[in-house]
Amino acid sequence: MTVITSSLGSAATADFCTDAAAQLLAGRYIVPLALGSVAVLGLWRVVHFIRADADLGLLATHRLPRDAFKEKTVWVTGASQGLGEELALVFAAHGARLILTARNTERLQAVQARCRDVAQDARIEVQTLDLTAPYAELQAAAALADGAFGGIDYLVHNAGASQHAAVEETAPEVADRLLELNAAGPIHLTRACLPFMISRGRGRIVAVSSMAAVVPAAGQALYSASKAALNAYLATLQTELCARGIGVTIACPGPVATGSEAAPRNVFSSTGLVKKHEQRGGSGKRLAPRRVAELIARAAYHRIDVCWIARNPVLLIGYLVQYWPALGLWILKKVGPMRAAQLKGGGSGYDLKAMLFGGGMAAKVE
Ligand SMILES: NC(=O)c1ccc[n+]([C@@H]2O[C@H](COP(=O)([O-])OP(=O)(O)OC[C@H]3O[C@@H](n4cnc5c(N)ncnc54)[C@H](OP(=O)(O)O)[C@@H]3O)[C@@H](O)[C@H]2O)c1
Repeated sequence: MTVITSSLGSAATADFCTDAAAQLLAGRYIVPLALGSVAVLGLWRVVHFIRADADLGLLATHRLPRDAFKEKTVWVTGASQGLGEELALVFAAHGARLILTARNTERLQAVQARCRDVAQDARIEVQTLDLTAPYAELQAAAALADGAFGGIDYLVHNAGASQHAAVEETAPEVADRLLELNAAGPIHLTRACLPFMISRGRGRIVAVSSMAAVVPAAGQALYSASKAALNAYLATLQTELCARGIGVTIACPGPVATGSEAAPRNVFSSTGLVKKHEQRGGSGKRLAPRRVAELIARAAYHRIDVCWIARNPVLLIGYLVQYWPALGLWILKKVGPMRAAQLKGGGSGYDLKAMLFGGGMAAKVE
């Protein structure tokens, strides 16, 4: 009996010792373990950010479901080429009924056919429309589009043009034309569509804006101004109309690899419109148009107010300008003069190496 008791006692002592040792070890390791986990998580976030091609809020959303836009009518302006064409294909692939507008009817019809390849039963209307036409024409187009399939659910303002020109050399007419196309046009078209949307109590306006509206873009002052004007108008409209079912998504892409030899991009020089495509280089940092179109559609589907779609360093500069403007602008003032000179010489404004060390790629201006 005594033997049994004593052996029980020594077992209890052993348990106690093991517990104490475990507690000691836990005490010793818990802090380094916790710190290690935080460091690994932090490192993972940094790597995630370095590799990101959009702001972290947008990347945290789910991918588009296959039928994301089923029974929805989406109007894409500037759908005849480039990003607009990719947007049309993405919306078609996810079930949307489409209204496609631009000035070039032949190209629109080609895009319509491509959309039917990805969505055979898709209902797609093509309308020729110049966004800078008088307001009465925009009103008529809005009425036609709204009547096509029972109401516009998404109005995607994609039509627009870029600008590569030095501030002091740019003709005043260029300011008028660019602001008319990139800001006044979409503003007037929004105004023309609003009565239809408000009467149904639903509708989302999606702007294909630009990171140039967030980050002052040397060599593109009017472009930055035109996109910033549109952003301000739509952001205000949203605060005014959100209680009546109207939403806004402002998507700000950085450099996108549009502008092929077959479909050169619309870009304003210091004197007027030119057609432009990059011949070589400079495309590494430019995002694929399909990826950008998917992210814009995703932002619209998830009802995101504002999103940025760009790789670094544009993304990082965006965050700096937004949250630490003094530092962001200090950096931009170092890079800006070189970038403006590069664009003025017909080069790319996205090749840091060429900007710092000269040379690099040439962009063809036709
Ligand atoms: N590419 C980039 O790096 C980039 C970056 C950020 C934002 N964005 C924005 O994304 C949008 C599309 O750019 P993108 O690179 O695809 O340009 P793009 O290849 O030049 O295409 C522009 C589209 O807008 C249409 N358009 C031009 N002027 C018009 C007018 N007066 N009326 C109606 N439609 C007109 C063009 O069609 P028609 O000629 O047939 O009319 C074309 O379909 C633009 O708003 C641009 O500012 C582009």
